[in-house]
Amino acid sequence: MAQPTIKLNSGHDMPQVGFGLWKVDKETCADTVYNAIKTGYRLFDGACDYGNEKQAGEGVARAIKDGLVKREDLFLVSKLWNSFHDGERVEPICKKQLEDCGIDYFDLYLIHFPVALRYVDPSVRYPPEWSYDGKGDIQLSNATIQETWTAMEGLVGKGYAKSIGISNFQGSLILDLLRYAKIRPATLQIEHHPYLVQETLLKLAAAEGIAVTAYSSFGPQSFVELEWQKAKDCPILFEHPTVVEIAKKHNKTTAQVLLRWATQRGLAVIPKSNNQGRLQQNLEVTNFDLDQSEVDAVSGFDRGLRFNNPTDYLGTLHIFA
Ligand SMILES: NC(=O)c1ccc[n+]([C@@H]2O[C@H](COP(=O)([O-])OP(=O)(O)OC[C@H]3O[C@@H](n4cnc5c(N)ncnc54)[C@H](OP(=O)(O)O)[C@@H]3O)[C@@H](O)[C@H]2O)c1
Repeated sequence: MAQPTIKLNSGHDMPQVGFGLWKVDKETCADTVYNAIKTGYRLFDGACDYGNEKQAGEGVARAIKDGLVKREDLFLVSKLWNSFHDGERVEPICKKQLEDCGIDYFDLYLIHFPVALRYVDPSVRYPPEWSYDGKGDIQLSNATIQETWTAMEGLVGKGYAKSIGISNFQGSLILDLLRYAKIRPATLQIEHHPYLVQETLLKLAAAEGIAVTAYSSFGPQSFVELEWQKAKDCPILFEHPTVVEIAKKHNKTTAQVLLRWATQRGLAVIPKSNNQGRLQQNLEVTNFDLDQSEVDAVSGFDRGLRFNNPTDYLGTLHIFA
């Protein structure tokens, strides 16, 4: 069945439901991507930081070789890591990521976080993650978002990315970026689930014609997997009585209700699952409708609870000047 798409301000169509690649093990990643394509996924949300771009690319290459899809049927997303924000670092790292993935363009390339870190040469450590020395010492770079965005625009000009976008940006920073952007961000990727609805940010994105992709749609679930106490202390959304009741009524799983709550409100979703059955059900989240009262009830869980907040888990910042 053809999946619905979202028309981006760049003119390209983005599948509304995709597959997230964070925490997909290197060992299983190629097979997972291959099987996800076989199941019907067309969008894959990757990143330098996920450490599995080579393996994801192997899965894509095998699917193309076996005739499951053509490259142009896929929508491959990746992200610029924080250590590569300096203007002159953007194109070389994007080209390395393309080479790792075995492709010659990304459909969408995002600034992963609005945080510029001191450059780490890929030959020293890759992906570099958050710290400069790999041991916890975090050092900033002086690159502004304007410098980085200008270099991102250059990727479109050279054909390395069809669309460019942002992730983990808040409203005021988006408004600032729009003052100088020659190419507007096509998408904004944010943590979004019933405990973190961010209604005003969604309204701003809609008003500015920026499509929103929700990540961590199951709220604490993704972070329980990482053994984070903040997530363990939080009521599991899959067991919330309201979600359970809505799921029973529509004969769907609670995961499908949570994803439909987002897609019905116009957002794209990119759930990750290392399990074939769950991966399949996560794709089938646009072919039924919740009642408006059900959508409102789930939106009512909002408590401004953010899990992916770097300041929660990063230590002292040392300014690099
Ligand atoms: N831009 C950013 O900064 C950023 C940050 C975080 C994530 N992301 C992107 O967003 C994607 C999704 O977010 P996420 O990985 O944080 O979390 P998620 O997709 O919300 O949740 C993943 C968790 O839910 C479980 N799960 C998946 N489907 C399920 C189902 N149908 N029923 C029950 N449990 C299910 C998974 O376990 P199993 O694997 O065992 O099924 C895993 O524990 C990432 O993979 C990544 O591509 C982007």
